[in-house]
Amino acid sequence: MCGIVGYIGNNEKKDFILNGLRELEYRGYDSAGIATLSNGELITYKAVGKLINLEQKCKDFTSTGFGVAIGHTRWATHGKPTEANAHPHIAEFSNVIHNGIIENYKELKERLEKKGHYFLSQTDTEVIVHLFEDYLNDGLDCFEAFKRTIGELRGAYAILLITKKEPDKIFYAKNASPLIIGRGEGGIYLASSDAPLMGYAQEVSYLEDGALGYIDLHNFSSLPNIKQLPQNKGYAQKEGFRYFMEKEIYEQSGVLLETMMGRVSEGKISFENLSADFFDGIGEITICACGTSYHAGMVGKYLLERYAKIKTNVVIASEYRYSSPVLREDELFIAISQSGETLDTLEAIKFVKPFGNKTLAICNVDNSSIVRECDEVLLTRAGIEKGVASTKAFATQVMVLWMLSTYIGSIRGNLSQKEVQKNIEDMVASAKRTEISAKMHEKIKRLSKRYLHGHGFFFIGRDVFYPLALESALKLKEISYLHAEGYPSGEMKHGPIALADSELFTVALMPEHLLYEKIKSNVEELSARDATICAVSALEFEGADDMLYIPSCSSYMEEFFSMMCALQLFALEIAIRLGNDVDMPRNLAKSVTVE
Ligand code: G6P
Repeated sequence: MCGIVGYIGNNEKKDFILNGLRELEYRGYDSAGIATLSNGELITYKAVGKLINLEQKCKDFTSTGFGVAIGHTRWATHGKPTEANAHPHIAEFSNVIHNGIIENYKELKERLEKKGHYFLSQTDTEVIVHLFEDYLNDGLDCFEAFKRTIGELRGAYAILLITKKEPDKIFYAKNASPLIIGRGEGGIYLASSDAPLMGYAQEVSYLEDGALGYIDLHNFSSLPNIKQLPQNKGYAQKEGFRYFMEKEIYEQSGVLLETMMGRVSEGKISFENLSADFFDGIGEITICACGTSYHAGMVGKYLLERYAKIKTNVVIASEYRYSSPVLREDELFIAISQSGETLDTLEAIKFVKPFGNKTLAICNVDNSSIVRECDEVLLTRAGIEKGVASTKAFATQVMVLWMLSTYIGSIRGNLSQKEVQKNIEDMVASAKRTEISAKMHEKIKRLSKRYLHGHGFFFIGRDVFYPLALESALKLKEISYLHAEGYPSGEMKHGPIALADSELFTVALMPEHLLYEKIKSNVEELSARDATICAVSALEFEGADDMLYIPSCSSYMEEFFSMMCALQLFALEIAIRLGNDVDMPRNLAKSVTVE
């Protein structure tokens, strides 16, 4: 993954590069680096850890006058997060930054080492700059050398390269990793997403896979698909919350209403850009996603089968495309992604497209790669999500899937008008259920101190509460680094119950309005084996060691959204007590653009 930025112009190069990297830090924060080339001088700074360390390191550095610059924030794939492995990578007179993975770097490295090239890092990226200079040494001009270099690479990449041989250009190549070039009054700007470009570039070109070339101050107009860039960047601020994740949990009731706005009214559901005939002839649905979005997809399966009455498969994107999947002609392919840039999901869509199936993105970022790749989109409208652990994006994904299931159910006549109306009322009530009460938050804060040890957590639930159990376990893992698993509660007796003892924490999702008696028996089986039980429910459960009460609701989906909030806060408070950086947990990144 990683984030990359570039600049050509007369302004202070450090400004755009560091501001841009700040916008892209969600893509990785293992290390960061910057290189500027002006007045014949190529200067590189790198620092391990978050961007602030790089900012400190080059705080006295200035670069005035015309020049070019590149910057990178890294999520380590090849080689540890050390300074040597941080980008830019350096050869004799050129620097390169890269987002993606070069699959054949080993063979290229061996070949170059035999020719006398000396490598400083363990990364795959470093071969690019050596290969480039090797071709230059053979007498090729810079563009030809760059073309030959890219021609030898296998894998995914967005690459920016600068060289003293052509100090007014940035060479670029894109395949499967995002890259955007913009032009503004201050010059030329490049970045992995459009957020860093806002406020700098007025017009942009979203490069397509296979794009390869160089950009200077004069050739921007020759780029394809030039569009105006909206300038209204929504800056996310913590607004008094301790972490973005906490703020985003509190924002859920607002964004859920936003997600419904204009789509749900007067007993009817409709989508601004989707007409009913898009679903004509659809006999099956496959939902494809990763991480939290995959869990939303699993909830979607229950809802689509229940309300739309369409058989639905849910697949993990990284598994899908290499598994020889069988596609039916009447199968709709739905990709779910918060960022719209997850490479596994993007590649799965690209795999499906040649079969001619309809594709629909459920996504939070308009104009992202996944949105551009799909036939149609339903935007989730969660607003910018900064916390690496996804919360409000998940909530809105589930809401969109619920609206979609109800919509298909109504146009196909599988739901009566009364049933549609009931779902709509439940949707509005569910948004209300995600308002966080001070009392509940306080209770969870207190409860959290009892759950900092133990040898593991099981989150258990049935039906849609099973994917919620998976998602709640994922939240806890991501930010607390404690071992947690989600299980269908009926499955515990088929093996996992062997782990039950007093040091095993079982968080039981016990909705009053869905299979309460069934899950109660499953939890009793665990309780009888002395597992420590934390029951999440509106109903008191005697076998529980702790009760995490949710308000009494009138539908199971209201209970779903209420428990979702309680369990997000549960993970948050445990992680805070453990002293972890909740917004930037170790080893993770917000957007994963490598396979
Ligand atoms: C990363 C993030 C997860 C996220 C997953 C899918 O692994 O750390 O929080 O759920 O990517 O991301 P997407 O943007 O496609 O929803």
